[in-house]
Amino acid sequence: MPNPPDNGTASSTAGREWWRDAVIYQVYVRSFADSDGDGEGDLRGVRSRLPELASLGVDAVWLTPFYVSPLADGGYDVADYRDVDPRFGTLTDFDDLTRRAHELGLRIIIDVVPNHTSSAHAWFREAVAAAPGDPTRSRYVFRPGRGPGGDQPPNNWKSIFGGPAWTRLKRPDGTPEEWYLHLFDPEQPDLDWTSPDVHAEFDDVLRFWLDRGVDGFRIDVAHGMVKDPALPDLPEGQRADLLDGSTELPYFDQEGVHDIYRRWNGIVGSYPGDRALVAEAWVEDAPRVARYLRPDELHQAFNFQFLTAGWDPEALRRVVDDSLAANGAVGAPTTWVLSNHDVTRHPTRFGAGERGLRRARAAALLALALPGSAYLYQGEELGLPEVTDLPEDALQDPTWERSGRTERGRDGCRVPLPWEGGGAPYGFGPPGSSPWLPMPPGWGSYSREAQRGDPDSTLALYTSALACRRASIDHAADLAWLDAGAGVLAFTRGDGFACAVNLGDGPAELPGPLLAPRTRVLLASGSVREVARTLVLPADTAVWLVPDES
Ligand code: GLC
Repeated sequence: MPNPPDNGTASSTAGREWWRDAVIYQVYVRSFADSDGDGEGDLRGVRSRLPELASLGVDAVWLTPFYVSPLADGGYDVADYRDVDPRFGTLTDFDDLTRRAHELGLRIIIDVVPNHTSSAHAWFREAVAAAPGDPTRSRYVFRPGRGPGGDQPPNNWKSIFGGPAWTRLKRPDGTPEEWYLHLFDPEQPDLDWTSPDVHAEFDDVLRFWLDRGVDGFRIDVAHGMVKDPALPDLPEGQRADLLDGSTELPYFDQEGVHDIYRRWNGIVGSYPGDRALVAEAWVEDAPRVARYLRPDELHQAFNFQFLTAGWDPEALRRVVDDSLAANGAVGAPTTWVLSNHDVTRHPTRFGAGERGLRRARAAALLALALPGSAYLYQGEELGLPEVTDLPEDALQDPTWERSGRTERGRDGCRVPLPWEGGGAPYGFGPPGSSPWLPMPPGWGSYSREAQRGDPDSTLALYTSALACRRASIDHAADLAWLDAGAGVLAFTRGDGFACAVNLGDGPAELPGPLLAPRTRVLLASGSVREVARTLVLPADTAVWLVPDES
């Protein structure tokens, strides 16, 4: 057997792997940089902008799906797991991007979408063309309907995007036949993970990309895949919301999913270079998340409890404690996530306008000071807000149509990035090109070009924070809370670093030096003052402190 290919990095001893304290930057490929002017971002665009991410100081880049796809759900509907959609480039472009990233010291994580395929996938087309009972149908969840003529869906499950989770097939002559399950859009049929074909296929897909040198996978809907075999009805009125893992459901967080991850752990572990598996699992609480991170399963999971805690000191402190305890018990790092392509951008969640941005900047310093790994969503380093007024005819998220045009969906956080200039497309694509979602007027002030060189910009704050994080935080040091008064979260990481965040309504005076014998401000998200050796922290502001050795 040939040796497994090396991604240029040897494996570390357990406990020292790169992903334990990495800062990972999420690139939403379609909206990052458009090299050919078709209005959609692409892999060449990503490659051309990689030096910007290296100079920002991140460790890794996670690329959202760029596979062949009808884009019914932004690429999370994959028609071919082993090829690049022509809109996004070619496999050669992917290899060039990976090589360039590695040259710049950046790792590459890609998405794997195992809960469902696209309805355009060869397997689904084959299954639809075959008769009920044909073995090709066993790769998906096909069932006869209920009631007279099988006119009712097999159970009462609802799609996360709205409407029933079942769609009925019709023969070419119009005769209705079986129904198929789709927890998301009808164009995203759920795979049946009791089928050995499905297991073999994903083993092979992982190897295909590991062989090309990827450093890890982000697993889409990692708590899905395995369903209660009885497919039981839900209690009346119950419905799954992607962002709410608080309800027990017969299709999420089932025991059997852990067997899949034990197998994937073995596959990834057979390659050198500490390749990582990251779970997107919206489950009930930190202990349920930690079950995905047992030593023989996945390496990281997004901390959605942190993302949803709001701007609330008690809630945040509880989440920090609970997640560190739960993950620590299985030897896994915790991640800190504020935004991604599925949620409202955090400056807008935290109150919009100036206050939202102030809080967002403070939250970034909090997230980057906590023990573990942090995920940044493209544009947060620019302080981008959610675009809340996209015209209705521009909306593309399936949620909009499936909810009967009552829920606008997630396009507002997916608007392409502004790079330079005073008008659309702001350097996202060549002059004159039309981005796939309209970019608002006035976005020039958020562009990288406008922020570069301005020491007060959000880009400068993130760049300094990432450099200081490398230089001044001892990643082996645990967090120890300090008592800094109501509304203030303050903690040390060893003797050499402290962080304080004021989440209260008014200014807070930090009691005495937080680190002996005197502290000095290393970095602040807003303006802090020192009055008679007391540090005054305005509301919605965070500060990083180090010992003053002068
Ligand atoms: C994940 C993705 C989301 C997608 C869904 C279905 O939650 O992050 O964008 O719509 O899975 O694949």
